[in-house]
Amino acid sequence: MATASRDASHDPADSSERTPDHAFIEASEIDTDASESAYGDETESYTTSLKSSIRNYRYENGRRYHAFRDEAYFLPNDEIESDRLDLFHEILTRRCDGELYLAPLGPDPQRILDLGTGTGIWAIDMGDKFPSASVLGNDLSPIQPTIVPPNVRFEVDDIENDWVYGSKFDFIHGRYLAGAVKDWPRLMRQAFKFTKPGGWVEFQDFDMRFYTVKGEFTPGCPLDEWTKIVINGLKKVGVEPEPGPKLEGWVKEAGFTNVHHKLLPIPVGVWPKDKKLKEIGALDYHQFLEGLEGISMHIFTASEGWKPEEVQLFLMGLRKDLKNPRLQAQHNFHVVYAQKPLDAE
Ligand SMILES: C[S@@+](CC[C@H](N)C(=O)[O-])C[C@H]1O[C@@H](n2cnc3c(N)ncnc32)[C@H](O)[C@@H]1O
Repeated sequence: MATASRDASHDPADSSERTPDHAFIEASEIDTDASESAYGDETESYTTSLKSSIRNYRYENGRRYHAFRDEAYFLPNDEIESDRLDLFHEILTRRCDGELYLAPLGPDPQRILDLGTGTGIWAIDMGDKFPSASVLGNDLSPIQPTIVPPNVRFEVDDIENDWVYGSKFDFIHGRYLAGAVKDWPRLMRQAFKFTKPGGWVEFQDFDMRFYTVKGEFTPGCPLDEWTKIVINGLKKVGVEPEPGPKLEGWVKEAGFTNVHHKLLPIPVGVWPKDKKLKEIGALDYHQFLEGLEGISMHIFTASEGWKPEEVQLFLMGLRKDLKNPRLQAQHNFHVVYAQKPLDAE
């Protein structure tokens, strides 16, 4: 409780105006005999225990999940999932013709923010590409490597909390946050506030639904059923399962201009004729088979009430379906980039 009165010798401009009562934080008793190094030890011990609490992972059906804001996110954060995310990075950058982003950034962006950075692979590549920039990646999970370029930093944070950065960014990026975010319009407003005038944002995300143009994928097939269950389960916990097609509207609503939207279908499997898409399809098929259990298990059991063995049985049927070369399934990846007007605050 804030009970202490303010020091009357303070400059009034320094106290009541800038420090409303609710901002007052009472300090704990200072041990007058303690040295600065003892204070340092106490800080260290708090940091260590907080660090260990964010690594106090939850285990469920043989998979590991994040600890910070437990239950906030449905995908595991173990090594299998990290490998899948790194593979996804390869797929998505290949789909963008080898580019890490499509926004027309200048040659020298200074401050770059990566929302929900995952393994940090994009942030690290950006740090390498722009050695004079500082790149910050945040995530609920501290699964990023510790040996990274000196201009790249990672933080455990919830991107749906109020952002508290001291200065604005030249570029804010968020990729593959399907199933992660509850309130996208609010996230976009925070991104607008923290982008420098003239700076850029870029969001890259999915439609979850699969479809075919000329293949044997049909509504009601196991892949279609699976997608419906995942979408339903994510909606039940209040997160947006399919942000991709809505990104353009949200960035416009937040005040960004110069909005560009690219729709890039991604094939599952080696069925495309085009060599580049065939390779992307091969990688996507692999990541999907690898990821099926991780994507499904928590949603099917916790949200939909399935037993783990029922999930495994269903996934066996789905894997078989995916092996049909005539299925020719694909899903849509959306890239939206936009600029904060130069005359905005
Ligand atoms: C599918 S991964 C994508 C990772 C990365 N953006 C990429 O494209 O490689 C989504 C990431 O978002 C993180 N995440 C989910 N909800 C979050 C939140 N509220 N705040 C911060 N990170 C979050 C997850 O922990 C996960 O690492």
